[in-house]
Amino acid sequence: MRIDVVSIFPEYLAPLELSLIGKARQDGLLDLRVHDLRDFTTDKHRSVDDTPYGGGAGMVMKPEPWAQALAAVAAAAVAGAGEAAGGAGATAAEPAKPVLIVPSPAGERFNQALAHELAEEDQLVFACGRYEGIDERVIEWAEEHFTVRPMSLGDYVLNGGEVAVLAMVEAIGRLLPGVVGNPDSLVEESHSDGLLEYPVYTKPASWRDREVPAVLLSGNHGKIAQWRRHEQYRRTAERRPDLLETFDAGKLPRADRTA
Ligand code: ADE
Repeated sequence: MRIDVVSIFPEYLAPLELSLIGKARQDGLLDLRVHDLRDFTTDKHRSVDDTPYGGGAGMVMKPEPWAQALAAVAAAAVAGAGEAAGGAGATAAEPAKPVLIVPSPAGERFNQALAHELAEEDQLVFACGRYEGIDERVIEWAEEHFTVRPMSLGDYVLNGGEVAVLAMVEAIGRLLPGVVGNPDSLVEESHSDGLLEYPVYTKPASWRDREVPAVLLSGNHGKIAQWRRHEQYRRTAERRPDLLETFDAGKLPRADRTA
């Protein structure tokens, strides 16, 4: 997968050089490039913002630097897809439009299902807005070149899109084949099946007068699976009852179905 991130603070994305995502980049599983929006300005102050039409507080990001930056990454994507389809002049079908994700508290809520959906794409582009946001005409113009998806991390306001991109790239990147060493660990985690994850324990079995639940020491795999499923349900009901509204109760142990 290729990911392009455009930001006025490229250094903000430095953590994507670390840990599993950094290793995936080194191993060639993820081609992630960060671009400085100011490199696409033409004035001597490299300015990217201006006052809002209609008045009001704060500044709005100017459209032209964004159009230049996004056109450059879209062109790189088309060239890359051409290479993949057999080089210049290949007669393969038109490559799919890359997905442009615009982090915004006014976007669709990002979740694990979307992370899975986006992990299937060949290229993602993230446009990190700052200030009061990006001139809306950029979003309309970008529809010609991208599938545009404004996306929110949650119902709170960040100072810009960069922190949201760190979270989304990590959530998507870890789903790419080969990124997480043991793919089984992706199966039994929170949100993978609509419930929160069950609690986990390691040695010692007794620690500061607290015991590991006996069933986990029993060696009875059926009983352990049942206990874990029940704990998932109990935790979800306690912490995130909203998730149970859309959860298929048929997937629960019989004893939990009517609870
Ligand atoms: N930018 C500012 N706030 C945000 C949020 N909650 N999610 C995504 N991007 C944002």
